[in-house]
Amino acid sequence: MQGSESMRKKWIGGNWKMNGNRSSIQSLINDLTKGVTQNNDVDVVVFPPSIYVDKVSESINETAIKLGAQNASEYEKGAYTGEISVAMLKDCAVTYVLVGHSERRHIFHETDEIIREKFHQIKQHDMIPVLCVGETLCDYEAGNTNAVLKAQLEPILSEDASLLNGIVIAYEPVWAIGTGKTATPEYAEAVHSYIRSLVAAQNSHIASGLTIVYGGSVNATNAASLFSMPNIDGGLVGGASLDANQFLEIIKCIN
Ligand code: PGA
Repeated sequence: MQGSESMRKKWIGGNWKMNGNRSSIQSLINDLTKGVTQNNDVDVVVFPPSIYVDKVSESINETAIKLGAQNASEYEKGAYTGEISVAMLKDCAVTYVLVGHSERRHIFHETDEIIREKFHQIKQHDMIPVLCVGETLCDYEAGNTNAVLKAQLEPILSEDASLLNGIVIAYEPVWAIGTGKTATPEYAEAVHSYIRSLVAAQNSHIASGLTIVYGGSVNATNAASLFSMPNIDGGLVGGASLDANQFLEIIKCIN
């Protein structure tokens, strides 16, 4: 299923994960703000480590770059030592929040239930969840990709498909994250098309407008062929987003 490709906004995110320091992040932002120009067809979002979110927020104010957070608490506020609430992120002008990233699922054992609660927190504060889904190598090799994705999307889809209106879904096969092994454009396209069809079964209008991006070892060499696919609306970039030149090259591939 192709969907109304033309009505969908393109989207590129740079997930910096737990990398950088005050000085390297400032120079990355300086280089990006010089290179990212206003383009109404593409949203460019950076996801700094949370301790630097406020600093990055000030540096990108009045630029074309938007701000995201890598994580947020599933709780509203209160006695949750060490946690950061969605409201706090909103206070720092964050627009997007990653939820369900494979590193959160697998290293920090976040369950579908926790992910669902975080997703609701983000929506309740009128922010945009970037809902990450993807199969492990084991599931990929066993041919279970579609079943895994269905199970990851089900808790939200079965509740109310309209919750997906305006969000971003990132398909990130776990075997491709940080490994240098990218999914082929054809494989990723088939999975994106499947995800869109799952949403379409509940609400075809939301499905055709849904931004679905690919993540997993995206770089300046493979981005153009991935982004040329009709159901791939952009990318979530980890390692390559730490290098301003490479990230800017990837952004060019979407245009
Ligand atoms: P990667 O990470 O580009 O380094 O594979 C992608 C991600 O985890 O979002």
